[in-house]
Amino acid sequence: MSKKQTLVTMALPYANGDVHLGNLLEAIQTDIFVRVLRANEETCHFVSGSDAHGTPIMLNAQKQGIGPEELITKARASQEQDFAGFSINFDHFHTTHSEKNNYYACDIYNKLQAKGDISQRAIMQAFDPEKNMFLPDRFIKGECPRCHAADQYGDNCEVCGATYSPAELINPVSALTGVTPINKESEHYFFELGHYEAFLKEWTATDAVQPQMQNKLSEWFDAGLKAWDISRDAPYFGFTIPGTTDKYFYVWMDAPIGYMASFAEYCEKNTDINFDDFWREGASHELYHFIGKDIMYFHNLFWPAMLKGAGYRTPTAIYCHGFLTLDGQKMSKSRGTFIKAKTYLEHLNPEYLRYYLASKLNAGVSDIDLCWDDFTNKVNADLVGKVINIASRCANFISKRFDGKLASKLENETLFEQGVNAGDTILTFFKERNYHLAVQAIMRYADSVNQYIDANKPWELIKDPNNLEKVHLVCTQALNCFKLLMTYLKPIIPTIAQGAEDFLQCEPLTFINRNKALLDTTINRYQPLVTRVCPTKVETMQEQAKQEAAEAATPTLTGPLADFPLKEEISFDDFAKLDLRIVTIVHAEAVEGADKLIKVIVDMGGIEKQVFAGIKKAFSPEELIGKQTVMVANLAPRKMRFGLSEGMLLVASGKETLWLISPQEGAEPGTPVK
Ligand code: 2FM
Ligand code: ZN
Repeated sequence: MSKKQTLVTMALPYANGDVHLGNLLEAIQTDIFVRVLRANEETCHFVSGSDAHGTPIMLNAQKQGIGPEELITKARASQEQDFAGFSINFDHFHTTHSEKNNYYACDIYNKLQAKGDISQRAIMQAFDPEKNMFLPDRFIKGECPRCHAADQYGDNCEVCGATYSPAELINPVSALTGVTPINKESEHYFFELGHYEAFLKEWTATDAVQPQMQNKLSEWFDAGLKAWDISRDAPYFGFTIPGTTDKYFYVWMDAPIGYMASFAEYCEKNTDINFDDFWREGASHELYHFIGKDIMYFHNLFWPAMLKGAGYRTPTAIYCHGFLTLDGQKMSKSRGTFIKAKTYLEHLNPEYLRYYLASKLNAGVSDIDLCWDDFTNKVNADLVGKVINIASRCANFISKRFDGKLASKLENETLFEQGVNAGDTILTFFKERNYHLAVQAIMRYADSVNQYIDANKPWELIKDPNNLEKVHLVCTQALNCFKLLMTYLKPIIPTIAQGAEDFLQCEPLTFINRNKALLDTTINRYQPLVTRVCPTKVETMQEQAKQEAAEAATPTLTGPLADFPLKEEISFDDFAKLDLRIVTIVHAEAVEGADKLIKVIVDMGGIEKQVFAGIKKAFSPEELIGKQTVMVANLAPRKMRFGLSEGMLLVASGKETLWLISPQEGAEPGTPVK
């Protein structure tokens, strides 16, 4: 029987947008967990990937004029790069649009079907007759049935928070084309979740599910488990359901299966790791999924039921976290509080964020607030002020006065022991995902070490040559305590810790080797391991994020708006100066020697006016006679080569053609247009 191993997953981010600080909260939480296990010399595998399917991705690709495969390939590369920028140490980052995922999705589906867990029935759904596709709820907009706010999504109102079905929206329109959706019937496939009620009630009552989530789940059990619609109609970007040609697995069906597929791909490249040891029913290795609380329904109900039904193991635990807020606000593009990973990285050290979030993360599901002033203060006061300063204060004495060599014994073994012993509690806090408690314990120890240094004052001692040995011992002691601090912080700030290992010239720091003091060994000259957070950099990053959000909110202009940019604003008084009148064209003739002009005589309610209009490319004189249009009646007459022009006809003037602006039938000539 092999030693217990652990497979850890992070929720697969959609391949439809940039990695942002919200994604990073989860990535950092998961990555720290993985690094802690490894620092305790446990074997742990860490996989994730890109969630590549679904309508939004399909439509986004269409909008960009590329195929969905191209879009998701680019997105995956960009996601990998962003996560790497924050040292998120995946063993494998896959995509749900893969052969392996198709294989496992069909495998699970076929097994569920064989067990009688898949049913089929026709449902009515909103359909866009112009785009020729069924519309997901998010693609229907209309008036909120509760507060009557306009332009609300088909599933919930952003103004009053009501949730409803698209059928309840008042005056619904397709968000894609603006046409009114029709109701159309379509055959759908359902996973009969109710078959798993007894199993789910039992499973969700175990430690696999956090207590706060258990409460939420019991509400759903009380309401009754409904069959889950796992199919979508063409056009759709996804996998076709076995036995069909135009029905696709709903993105949420194959997304969690992506965990298996990602791991399978990883096993293929690492043949010493056996897929079945992690996924067969009753597998003894552990499986942890880290997710946001918004997707717990899928992970705590559908996913374990699917696994159970298909004869696979169920997760050891699903770990949900809360949302990230920035300065107390939900991240929002329109408010400019949406910060992309790339934007952060342009200005700030990723380890600041890892440290700050770790100092706040806990095992619960409440939201985590990133307050930028607190971020600056905490990183500067704790990480730099309390921990890094220990090294910077003591290293120079060792380098300059002792040729870089540490003393051969500890001056205060108790202080070192105290730090070693604290490691057990710190490890437990980490494993329980109470990173904030781990950080507090680490900082308490840092305080003790700083007190020790302040009590011994090596900078004073060094003034007396008789105290040289004491300085050697005190600094050796402090640097050994610093090594312990770095051991505990290493899962949180791996790059700084790597710098500390290089500086201390020690083997990789782990929880296991932490009790080995560095004595009689040589260290490198101290180079700053991290600098203080500069508040102006935080501000610049925030400004850039705001600008990016504003740019993203500005639609890309195409067609006439791009060809003919809007003119600058005029006042109402400017507009009111125009005297626009209904006119009827009573006579029209070509103008000899002019390519573009037609001479027209209009009747403006008893007064006739002559106008030379540049509309020849769209009209023949004959077809104009009898037409009504609008004329600028108070334009000063202009003397032209061919005669006097006494007004201007209103014409919409496109790149290729013209359209005469005409009133509704029956408009009386001479009537003002306002
Ligand atoms: O909510 C989301 O961002 C989904 N893309 C998460 C999928 S997690 C898993 F099921 F793949
Ligand atoms: Zn509302």
